[in-house]
Amino acid sequence: MSTAPKTLIAGNWKMYKTEAQAVELAAALSAGLRDSLPEDREVLLLPPFTALKAVAETIRGQRLFLGGQNFYPSAEGAFTGEVAPFMLADAGCTHALVGHSERRHILKESDRFIAQKTAFGLQAGLHMILCVGETLDQRTHGSVENVLKGQLRLGLAEVNKDGVTPDRLTIAYEPVWAIGTGKVAQTEDIVAAHDLVRKTLEDSFPHCGDKIRILYGGSVKPDNAGAILALDNVNGVLVGGASLQVDSFTAIASAV
Ligand code: PGA
Repeated sequence: MSTAPKTLIAGNWKMYKTEAQAVELAAALSAGLRDSLPEDREVLLLPPFTALKAVAETIRGQRLFLGGQNFYPSAEGAFTGEVAPFMLADAGCTHALVGHSERRHILKESDRFIAQKTAFGLQAGLHMILCVGETLDQRTHGSVENVLKGQLRLGLAEVNKDGVTPDRLTIAYEPVWAIGTGKVAQTEDIVAAHDLVRKTLEDSFPHCGDKIRILYGGSVKPDNAGAILALDNVNGVLVGGASLQVDSFTAIASAV
């Protein structure tokens, strides 16, 4: 039996930080977390593409992982403006994000495209973090369950199910209305959504669905991180805004 992976604290830097700013933040984070990060946690940084290599060098040998915010599901080719998983790995990444709500809603990525990326990223050796989450409209209309189940089913449709292990796949539940708004979801809503994701994972991956990590994301801050991380089936957090400052991200990573 495999053991449960560590709690994951992930910082999604989105389209912020020049290379020099990214290096400064990464260096301050590795110094700040060296002694304060609890043993049962791990930290993932997701800088913009242009800063990946420099951040990789900055955090080498530290307890920090590096990930890409996006990629194109092909080994190489005529895909102007895109980056292949192998290029992320070459820049030092072990992880990648897929299905983030900003890519679903602003870049209009479909569930099918997200499914291709999830499967291709896994094949390429990356640890994939698949994001799911409902809009406020969908919540108001009582469709949270359908939306989450649908995004999980479709997003994982092309994955080789038997090959999945908890150290290669993570799900992030991020209610769209909580991202970047300061409106964190209510405790009971987080618990209900994570229970639902857990059940779906156990159905899809009978051999390891109970151990695949489920992160919460959406306005996670130092003052709510401890309470969120203590909830059942919350195995980490995906942090946007508060991951851009050394003090707030360090406080979240060590929050109890
Ligand atoms: P936020 O972003 O923490 O700024 O709400 C979360 C995310 O987009 O992953």
